[in-house]
Amino acid sequence: LMAEKGGYKHFMLKEIYEQPRAIADTIAGRVLEEKGEVYLEGLDLSATELAAMEKVFIIACGTSWHAALVGKFLIEKHCRVPVEVDIASEFRYRDPIVNERTLTLLISQSGETADTLAALREARGKGGKVAAICNVVDSSIARESHGVIYTHAGPEIGVASTKAFTTQLVALFLFAVHLGRVRGTLDQAQGRAMLDALVTLPRKVEAALELDGAIEQAAREYMGARDFLYLGRGNQYPIALEGALKLKEISYIHAEGYPAGEMKHGPIALIDENLPVVVVVPHNDTFEKVISNLEEVHARGGRVIAVTDHTDPGLTEKSDAVFMLPKIIDELMPVLTSIPMQLLAYHIAVLKGTDVDQPRNLAKSVTVE
Ligand code: G6P
Repeated sequence: LMAEKGGYKHFMLKEIYEQPRAIADTIAGRVLEEKGEVYLEGLDLSATELAAMEKVFIIACGTSWHAALVGKFLIEKHCRVPVEVDIASEFRYRDPIVNERTLTLLISQSGETADTLAALREARGKGGKVAAICNVVDSSIARESHGVIYTHAGPEIGVASTKAFTTQLVALFLFAVHLGRVRGTLDQAQGRAMLDALVTLPRKVEAALELDGAIEQAAREYMGARDFLYLGRGNQYPIALEGALKLKEISYIHAEGYPAGEMKHGPIALIDENLPVVVVVPHNDTFEKVISNLEEVHARGGRVIAVTDHTDPGLTEKSDAVFMLPKIIDELMPVLTSIPMQLLAYHIAVLKGTDVDQPRNLAKSVTVE
């Protein structure tokens, strides 16, 4: 079994470390950098069809739903088409408004999640176009879709999703560039700039993994907490949700992800010296706003764990721990900020002695409703 785990203590850790390779494999052969274009072999929806879409749904469950939330930012920003994200078990029962100019994108690592498959059939039954982002080749969701974009993460054994998630983010980025180019909302130079950034991603993920030791130290300090709060804004709000989900799943510590700007409407009441608050705060347009949330946490005695790519004296002074990531374009930053989320949850779970790869009550793939 140790051999299967490639010398790692758990599949989850092995899969965390496989991410530079998994991401490189998901990009490989799909990027026409010079032309600023993307080639997606199994998508099977023509440029004309894609250009005609007036609405996009992205539907998924669990961690894949968090990827969907990031996808909304990518597609709305670069393709200028309205995107609605929904949880599959909600979408399937609410008689969604779908027609032939609606593209429904399903995201599923396994391609077998019952609710996601039912959502696909619902959208298809209403005459919509359907595409999937899947990791498992020839899975039910992949087979029943008009087109599929495979993530090339390789088999994911750990119940808590890691490399499948970050490769879903990469697949969504590729799809957004492709859609933007065929719709004419991204020109060649813009497409090229995005793809130039994308090809640097694997080695930046590699650099982010070097935080492992420092995160393990922090895990020792915070493992005794009863609750955690995760804050993020914009395309980092889904990463806050994902960080909280990872921690819950494998350490059984209660955790909540919240949009940073919404903290004042509730979670602020919870803050005291017993509450670690993970603040995801890359140096983007809302940096100063999230810093002021971080200051509010600090002022109330909360223990701040900051995840950033920017050296800022105020941030350092008011944080109990700072995890510094490499810089990359804002669209790809969610991939990098995911790494400390995974490692923090992993190390806390290991220290608590839980069954990291097979947490209680959870299944890798939920094939029944
Ligand atoms: C289960 C797994 C999660 C996963 C979710 C959706 O709950 O434990 O890790 O995110 O299903 O799975 P899918 O295969 O559709 O991405």
